[in-house]
Amino acid sequence: LKLGVLASGSGSNFEVIVKAIEKEELNAEIPILIYNNPKAKVKERAQRLKIPTILLNHREFKQREDLDKKIVEVFQEHQVEWVIMAGWMRVITPILLEAFPNRVINIHPSLLPSFKGINAVEQALKAGVKITGCTVHLASLEVDSGPILMQAAVPILADDTPETLHARIQVQEHKIFPQAIALAAKNAFNSINLVN
Ligand code: GRF
Repeated sequence: LKLGVLASGSGSNFEVIVKAIEKEELNAEIPILIYNNPKAKVKERAQRLKIPTILLNHREFKQREDLDKKIVEVFQEHQVEWVIMAGWMRVITPILLEAFPNRVINIHPSLLPSFKGINAVEQALKAGVKITGCTVHLASLEVDSGPILMQAAVPILADDTPETLHARIQVQEHKIFPQAIALAAKNAFNSINLVN
């Protein structure tokens, strides 16, 4: 299973996927990681983990579609089969979804369909909900939508800040993301239709 990873930030989710592969919990390989922000910490992680990287700086592309065209080109060169958005902070276009139909997986730090978009952790705190969590789902054109693969719930504590809550959510993200990727690949292989 060849995974092409897209990441914009620290890359802790990317790292747990690499570790799951090393531990043979996930039967896959990562031929290439694409990141879009020159300062993203994920770059150092990838170097340490010996995963090849390419920087595609979104500021150098006129339109979202142009960035996605380049992503598709790079992933196809590397025979990528599944696209993993591991904290990819860009809106994707039909160009990416049409090149990898039902093969783009996203992770989001809320229990979807609640709290879509950026600042999902702050949104949950502001709403006063007592439970939030994280969701791994197949990406669709609408941001943070698409068939849900796996979720984990996380309690919100009285003294939580966005940082403490996000840290607690990430513990769960790191558990379910590799599992959900394995599940998606298995279901696709068995032609089970996840879309309802
Ligand atoms: C995660 O919380 C993910 O849900 C969100 O961005 C964050 C990425 O974290 N989409 P990291 O870069 O994997 O540490």
